[in-house]
Amino acid sequence: MVPRAGPATLSPMRAVLALLPAASFLLAAPSAEARYPRVPGAPAPAPAPAQRYVSIGADALATARAVVARHGAQLGVLAAAGDVAVIAVDDADLSALSEQMHARHDRCGGFMVHDSLDDAMSALSPTSPPAAPAAPAAKDGPRLDYKLDRAPLVQDLLPALDAERIRSTIAELSAMQNRYYQSDSGAAASLWLRDRWQSFTSRPDVTIELFDHGYPQKSVILTIPGTTRASEVIVIGGHLDSIALGGRASTAPGADDDASGIATLTEVARVLLERDVRPARTLQLIAYAAEEVGLRGSLSIVREYRRRGVDVVGALQLDMTNYQGSDRDIWLIQDFTSAAQNEFLARLIDSYVGASYGYDVCGYACSDHASWHRAGIPASMPFESRSRDRNKLIHTAKDTLETSGNNAAHALKFARLAAAYAIELGKPPLPPAPGSAADSASSASAASAAASSCSPISAPAWARPSPGASASSCDASARNLRALLSALGLALALAVYLTVSRRL
Ligand code: BES
Ligand code: ZN
Repeated sequence: MVPRAGPATLSPMRAVLALLPAASFLLAAPSAEARYPRVPGAPAPAPAPAQRYVSIGADALATARAVVARHGAQLGVLAAAGDVAVIAVDDADLSALSEQMHARHDRCGGFMVHDSLDDAMSALSPTSPPAAPAAPAAKDGPRLDYKLDRAPLVQDLLPALDAERIRSTIAELSAMQNRYYQSDSGAAASLWLRDRWQSFTSRPDVTIELFDHGYPQKSVILTIPGTTRASEVIVIGGHLDSIALGGRASTAPGADDDASGIATLTEVARVLLERDVRPARTLQLIAYAAEEVGLRGSLSIVREYRRRGVDVVGALQLDMTNYQGSDRDIWLIQDFTSAAQNEFLARLIDSYVGASYGYDVCGYACSDHASWHRAGIPASMPFESRSRDRNKLIHTAKDTLETSGNNAAHALKFARLAAAYAIELGKPPLPPAPGSAADSASSASAASAAASSCSPISAPAWARPSPGASASSCDASARNLRALLSALGLALALAVYLTVSRRL
């Protein structure tokens, strides 16, 4: 803030004042571009290479061979270790590969489509289920203490979550012909979701951005910047795309897989913003593009975040939340996830959700949580049913709201869990207890905090360009203040010199 000058009675003082506007640029708010460097958006997409590198379950190699054999080609197997192989596949074959994987393997052969050969090769190191901690962070033990100490905030927020709103968002998303990553309606779904999320807030610090992957569908990223620990980022995600036989031209409502997860995320976003939540850590809600074709959207976001040194401290995946197929409500997936964070989720369910839970495995890298897990980031996936009781209609034209019960009572439990996760990991400040000393002092301290805090608006620390090369917003403010003081000192010296020389 620019300090106020007293009455301008002395001419030297006027000289100081005259210099103030010139100095004030030092404190001026940076441009929108400077405040929000394009972290969520990838750099301008390079022209798509003809070949992609795919890590794939070795049991699915015959399927991949059959796909490339359709145009007389031979499959290039670049490496294999244990039950994973790395293959090179033409871009044009990817849709057929993903269709055949879904058709032939019915959830026993996962695959990941990588942006580089290096990336694909790193998938060969084992990340085997259920408890083996392959991720570097997991090896070192959890970085976070996972303490539950925000009960009043969570309990105040949860009643605002509304199953009817989740139901109607699922209805809107599943009314689109499909949300395939290559189709016009898949591309339109990204814009639709961006606009929906944008309608929840006019806060200038909250951003809703599209992440351009170079194909028609974009990922959508909502960011609530952290106040005091902005460089630590929490991600809650789901996948926006849907798939069924026929690709671009298919009817793929994907009501459960995964309009339910996106609608759950959307309701959490609405309530966090309605309540004006300001977490200490940065919170990002991400609707990933292109999960169904090899986790492509999340893999490239994780890669970009690593490149930029974005420090994600936890990731929660909401993929299929509204089909209740089992005797218990929430199933914590144990493979490709963090055991410590899963235990945290179990405590959140016990304390806040009022639901039953159990543990299960997917058996392969079945959704976007696996992209974070393989980068060493604690990831979890709470799932709607036991794997063996799963919704059999996903990836068909029958995955509709009607076949999930035509309501969102089940998804509401996942919204409660995700909101509790956001608050308990995000750690917004607790409101002062009524009548406490802090309560009466709160307006004054809020004002001074606003004036002196290291505002995430001026330079979002989570978006620092590269590891090590960071300058936090606090550093930036301190530098601005130092520069202003030296400008004022200079002006004062000049004014004294002018006065003294005039007297002589
Ligand atoms: N939502 C599913 C994953 C799923 C399905 C988990 C059933 C548990 C039970 C996801 O969208 C999906 O279809 N994943 C692909 C794998 C991906 C790597 C292409 C799959 O399961 O085939
Ligand atoms: Zn799916």
